[in-house]
Amino acid sequence: MAHDPNISPLRLAVFVGSHGRGSNLFAIHDAINAGTLPAQIVCVVGSRADAPAIVRARNAGLVTKIVSPKDRTDPEYAAVLLRVLRGHDADSVALAGYMRRLPEAVVAAFPNRVVNIHPSLLPAFGGHGMYGEKVHQAVMDSGVKVSGCTVHFVDENFDTGAIISQTVVDVLEGDTAQTLAARVLECEHRAFAEALTALARGQLRVVGRRVVRTLLPSV
Ligand code: GRF
Repeated sequence: MAHDPNISPLRLAVFVGSHGRGSNLFAIHDAINAGTLPAQIVCVVGSRADAPAIVRARNAGLVTKIVSPKDRTDPEYAAVLLRVLRGHDADSVALAGYMRRLPEAVVAAFPNRVVNIHPSLLPAFGGHGMYGEKVHQAVMDSGVKVSGCTVHFVDENFDTGAIISQTVVDVLEGDTAQTLAARVLECEHRAFAEALTALARGQLRVVGRRVVRTLLPSV
């Protein structure tokens, strides 16, 4: 679907992790370039200049900013992040592999504008310390038959914000944490771009714990 000229594109800051590959960042970037996601990536924020996602972003010509929480108190870290976000006039934030708890002041400054992706069906297999292969190994160890990914708004805790969308992936006989992770990741790329598109189109309304999707007005 082409951009609706009546929708002002998201001014999106993407936060990446120090070990992330940046595949979700580039799924977002590709959806923007394909014209399906009305957004502009105004900056990519990471904590290390040599992080793979930051290197990829820089090579692709995206604006990158390094903000390390090291040697900073939480309020100091929050203040620098907010300065970067305001300096780039960001109106929304996508956490794509960002592993930390986002400082409360940042969450509060962007109410229902910070979106995270998690590689399981929350609230299962989420929370502090549940990231990367640990999630998929825990899924395998538990014997559940389905896993998937969750896109959710970010609140002040780990993986507990209101859920925007969930995509189910079957756990197959013979799966390992790695094979399951690869299939979930493919779904993540589609789900993240789709959820951000709904945000850009103003279709997401949060009612208590529930995210309600409004239909687009028919033309
Ligand atoms: C993804 O699995 C995402 O769900 C999680 O961190 C991982 C980041 O991967 N939050 P990538 O850097 O986007 O490839």
